[in-house]
Amino acid sequence: MNKFKGKKVALVGNGLVGSSYAFSMINQGICDEFVIIDLDKKKVIGDVMDLNHGTLYGASPIKVKAGEYEDCKDADLVVICAGAAQKPGETRLDLVAKNMKIFKSIVTKVMESGFDGIFLIATNPVDVLSYATMKFSGLPKERVIGSGTILDTARFRYLLSEEFNVAPQSVHANIIGEHGDSELPVWSHANISGKPLRSIIENDESRKHRVEEIFVETRDAAYQIIESKGATYYGVAMGLMRITKAILNNQDVVLTVSAYLEGEYGNEGVYIGVPALINRTGIKEIIEMPLNEEEKSLFDRSVLVLKDIQAPFEE
Ligand code: LAC
Repeated sequence: MNKFKGKKVALVGNGLVGSSYAFSMINQGICDEFVIIDLDKKKVIGDVMDLNHGTLYGASPIKVKAGEYEDCKDADLVVICAGAAQKPGETRLDLVAKNMKIFKSIVTKVMESGFDGIFLIATNPVDVLSYATMKFSGLPKERVIGSGTILDTARFRYLLSEEFNVAPQSVHANIIGEHGDSELPVWSHANISGKPLRSIIENDESRKHRVEEIFVETRDAAYQIIESKGATYYGVAMGLMRITKAILNNQDVVLTVSAYLEGEYGNEGVYIGVPALINRTGIKEIIEMPLNEEEKSLFDRSVLVLKDIQAPFEE
C-alpha cells in the first residue's frame, strides 16, 4: 500500500469505461496521483495532457501520468477496465474466454511490480473476472472487489425515484446477484425513506406492474444503451468512482459490489453482487440481508450461473 505519498490509483485500460472513470476521478479529485496504463500509448499521452489541463477546475489537485505496470508498485488501488467489450446482442458471459486470457496477463504484470494494494475490477463478466483476479493475484478476497451490481442498483434506484418523485438518494433498494441476466431485486427490503415499497403499492395494481417493469428495464438497460450508442461507460465509471472514494476515504459505506462468498447467503466459492461494507481495507464485511424464499432461490440460481461459467477455468 502507498504509505508515504498521497493516494495513488493506477488505471489499466483506457477505453471508453477507463477514460470515463479517469475523467470522473479527476473531476472529483479523489486521489493525489492517477496513472493510466494502456497498450495505446499515443491515446494515453493525449488523455493525460487533456486531463491535466483541466485539473485547475477539478475538486482538488491531482497529478495525472502515463504509466507502465511498474508504476503499480506503490499504488493503493489498481482499477482494471481493459478487455473486450460487449457487442450488440452479446451477453456479458459471452466475453469470458477472451477476457480471462487478457486478465491473466494483466494481473501477472501488476503483481510482478510488487503491488500490494486493492484491485477494483470493471471488465465483464465482472463477477467471474473478479474471481479470476483473486486467483491470479493471490491477494486476500477482501482486496479484490468487482463493480458488481453497483450500477444495476443505481439504475434501479433512479427508475424508482422517477416513479415515486423522490431523489434516488431517498430510495433504498438493491439489485444483487450476477451483474447480468440472472440478477434480482430485493423487493422485501425496498423502501422509500423507511416506508416499505410493498405497502406503498399494495392496493395499486398499475403501480405494481410498473415496478416490475422497472426491474426489467434495470436488468436490460445495458442492452438498450449498447444498441443505441455502441457501449455503456458513464454510469459504470461513476460507480467505479464511488467505490474508489469509499476505499481511499475509508468511508465504511455499504455498496452492492461483487464480493467473494465463503458461506454468506448460504453460498461459497463465487464472486457475486451483494451489499458489502467498503473501506481502506477493501471489503470489511459482507452484509447478509434476510432474503425471502423467492429471493433466496433466485440468488442461488444466479450463483449457479456464475459457477457454471467459472468451472472450466478452475485449476
Ligand atoms: C453495464 C455494463 C457496465 O451494465 O456491464 O452497463
